[in-house]
Amino acid sequence: MNSRIICLESVDSTNVYLKNLCVSDYPEEGTVILADFQTKGKGQGTNTWHSSPGLNIIMSILFNPSIHVSGHFSLSEFISLGIVDMLNDYGISSLIKWPNDIYVGTRKIAGILVENSLKGKIISRTIAGIGLNVNETDFPSNIPNPVSMKQLLQKSLDKNDVTECLISKIQFRYTQIVKPGSDLLHDEYNQLLYRKGQLTEFQSDSVTFQGTIINVENSGELIVSKQNGIESRYLHGEIMFKT
Ligand code: BTN
Repeated sequence: MNSRIICLESVDSTNVYLKNLCVSDYPEEGTVILADFQTKGKGQGTNTWHSSPGLNIIMSILFNPSIHVSGHFSLSEFISLGIVDMLNDYGISSLIKWPNDIYVGTRKIAGILVENSLKGKIISRTIAGIGLNVNETDFPSNIPNPVSMKQLLQKSLDKNDVTECLISKIQFRYTQIVKPGSDLLHDEYNQLLYRKGQLTEFQSDSVTFQGTIINVENSGELIVSKQNGIESRYLHGEIMFKT
């Protein structure tokens, strides 16, 4: 796959830049936007994404998956697994906190923001935004439990090497979504699920409760077994981890 790489010193958000580029230009699938700094880095929901200038990977990649909207969660899955694969190459074992945060132990090392465009019921365009903590060591105190590769490996990393490895792992994982009838991505995603099978505190509709993650469905719904044995399913945004 082509990977034309556009490097920017500073931008509002690489996801927004790539979205605008799709309007003014016809960037090829695989186009990557990299930035040293974002002035309005977007996180999930209304969150922002912090990254000190030059220290971390701030990246958006363009895909044209042409899959039915019912398969939208496979996009979160392949990107998450690509990040996990790259970290493995650096000797770091990570897990995926549903729906698509990458955790090492109880600390977040990377976040993903997937933005899809539909043509009818087909996902025609996906902008996959990735924020990965590489060389940051002084995180603002309001960020809950962050960690970087440098903190884990106790040495500075060459950001270009990490970026190259990350792009190639994500491109490989992308080839696995287009295999019809294959549950490979989904099965691996479920095997790497953070706190799967462990009693965990959640909050939903302002109610705090304990439950155990059973798995994630192909639809992306999280299945949690409550202490009364009843299993409930949650869409992204309907449930929050308390820990
Ligand atoms: C999250 O965990 O809340 C998702 C964070 C996603 C951050 C990345 S950084 C590159 C891309 N551009 C953005 O504005 N956001 C994503």
